[in-house]
Amino acid sequence: MTGHRPGDGINRWRNASPAVPARDNGSMAEHTQLIDAINIRTSIRSYDPDPIDDDTARQLDMTIDAVNMLADAHIQLVRDQPAVFADANASGHLNNAANYLAVVGPKDDGARERAGFYTERVVLAATLRGLGTCWVGGSWDRSKAARHCRLSAGEELYLGVVIGYPERHFDRMAKSYTELAAMRDAHRESKTYEQFTAPMSDEARAAAPDWFKAGVQAAMKAPSAMNRQPIVFSYNPDDDTAAAMIDPNVESGQALNDLGIAKLHFQIGAGSGTWAWGDGGLFIHR
Ligand SMILES: Cc1cc2nc3c(=O)[nH]c(=O)nc-3n(C[C@H](O)[C@H](O)[C@H](O)COP(=O)(O)O)c2cc1C
Repeated sequence: MTGHRPGDGINRWRNASPAVPARDNGSMAEHTQLIDAINIRTSIRSYDPDPIDDDTARQLDMTIDAVNMLADAHIQLVRDQPAVFADANASGHLNNAANYLAVVGPKDDGARERAGFYTERVVLAATLRGLGTCWVGGSWDRSKAARHCRLSAGEELYLGVVIGYPERHFDRMAKSYTELAAMRDAHRESKTYEQFTAPMSDEARAAAPDWFKAGVQAAMKAPSAMNRQPIVFSYNPDDDTAAAMIDPNVESGQALNDLGIAKLHFQIGAGSGTWAWGDGGLFIHR
């Protein structure tokens, strides 16, 4: 456990009142808040062949540098290495996948949660720039991917995130925020709000504050390995805190990474506040 808490400094990147979802039908260019990114993000598996240009790469690298300092991680953007995805591209599971975020960090469990939290922060920044992403644990050649990374002693490559311009991205960018949000809502199954708050009674759910409900709703939109959604939340009215737990009934080899991702989404949905790291870590809203 490091001295800082998840989200320390993260408000630096946020606009005011992110808990209020934008409701207009305007173009994506008007949508710059992280909550908007959560509302339109889906995993993208088909990409246009266009490379990520230097300017966009520089901007992503700036976000990655800031995130690496907070995360004590070593996330890296690797461009133009389609051989890493040769099998998945050949089978049609992915199309034109060529660039990735290499999720590199120290070999310890806590680091995996932090990596999930902060890499997803980069994913949401990329989404607001019109880029598509897809976390990958299986659909790549990890050892080939590692050859393009800088790995210091004691570090490993945990996971990747494919990144690039989604197929027909100009058409996609021309869609309104409302259309993109509707596409996200329809694109996959999700566990229900009740399942996400399984430790709570119906009465406790009804009495929970709006920030908690908004946090859970944002976490329901988070990516998770094989869409297993292994995280549950509860609200404790005695001390006005939320807790996030890994559901022991869900089998997932990536639960710590998914815990970090879900915590980031919850924090953005809740509007403000910070998490303590770890399974069962508490969220203090302020
Ligand atoms: C840790 C992790 C690993 C993943 N690995 C893969 C993968 O190897 N191949 C793939 O197609 N999708 C992968 N995904 C994407 C999930 O399948 C996807 O997030 C989930 O189905 C929910 O869909 P959504 O991201 O569109 O909301 C992974 C996601 C996470 C968080």
